[in-house]
Amino acid sequence: MTKRKTRLLLFVIVCAALVLGYNLLQAKEFAWLPPKQSGAGLEAAGGGEAQGGTASGEADSSDGDETVGSGQGEAGASASPSPDTGDSKGESPGSAGGGQAGQAEDGMAVVAQPESISVLVNKQNKLPEDYNPSDLVYPEVPFIFSEKAEKRMMRKEAAEALERMFAGAEKDGVALAGVSAYRSHSTQKTLFERYVKRDGLEKARTYSAYPGTSEHETGLAIDVTGGDGKCAADDCFAGTPEALWLAGHAHEYGFIIRYLKGKEEITGYQYEPWHLRYVGGDVAAEMAASGESLEEYYNAVPVTN
Ligand code: DAL
Ligand code: ZN
Repeated sequence: MTKRKTRLLLFVIVCAALVLGYNLLQAKEFAWLPPKQSGAGLEAAGGGEAQGGTASGEADSSDGDETVGSGQGEAGASASPSPDTGDSKGESPGSAGGGQAGQAEDGMAVVAQPESISVLVNKQNKLPEDYNPSDLVYPEVPFIFSEKAEKRMMRKEAAEALERMFAGAEKDGVALAGVSAYRSHSTQKTLFERYVKRDGLEKARTYSAYPGTSEHETGLAIDVTGGDGKCAADDCFAGTPEALWLAGHAHEYGFIIRYLKGKEEITGYQYEPWHLRYVGGDVAAEMAASGESLEEYYNAVPVTN
């Protein structure tokens, strides 16, 4: 082969590698994002407040951040009756917990019954834009902060179950404290954007939910830690007496550990032993017995996250 031909061949190979590399990068970076949100939705919000990192740099410890989530009125915003709990196991993804209203423009499913106690909200199923739980109350349990903030609230049925669970733990000599419960859509947006700014999109989405897809927005989820407030929403909570107690007993009160170890590919999130989701006694008992994630319970395991 002549020198000229060799140079030409090398040039072609380098060009091909560059094009391939660029395409791979694009696909990896933005594959998960709804097309309309991949750019505009990610500008920093909240005036770029400084965000203290956690020990691990991964956990969503600033769920408890006092600067996020404004205080919110009086306890018991309203007290509508408990919602339906009529979801049944084994249904197809299309009718998974809370049902689905159909595909949104961004390709995600919008849940049709966001008020359902066993609603499935995840990276594939989002809440309607304007959904606000109508029966938020302040559970009477200790939190790691003292003010009556939004993040202290939960839906009535979940709040009452939480009170029973904290009392049950105390009887067993285990002190628990709430870290972060309900978050409005705008609070979740602020948090998520802050994490993206801090850690980049790819990492942020392993521990923080895109606005509209966080269980915290349902009023049915709460991050819990030990009574001393240490390891709040942090990896160091794993293996503590409080985490072990929750793993063994939460289902007795209708809660599940939502993001299980070993199920990261299914749930789409890192292991979060502190993130409890209220699903009701029957579903929680079945899930505890089977060891399934909520996605598996509803036969709604995503092909990819
Ligand atoms: N940390 C969980 C995934 C959330 O942001 O809802
Ligand atoms: Zn959480």
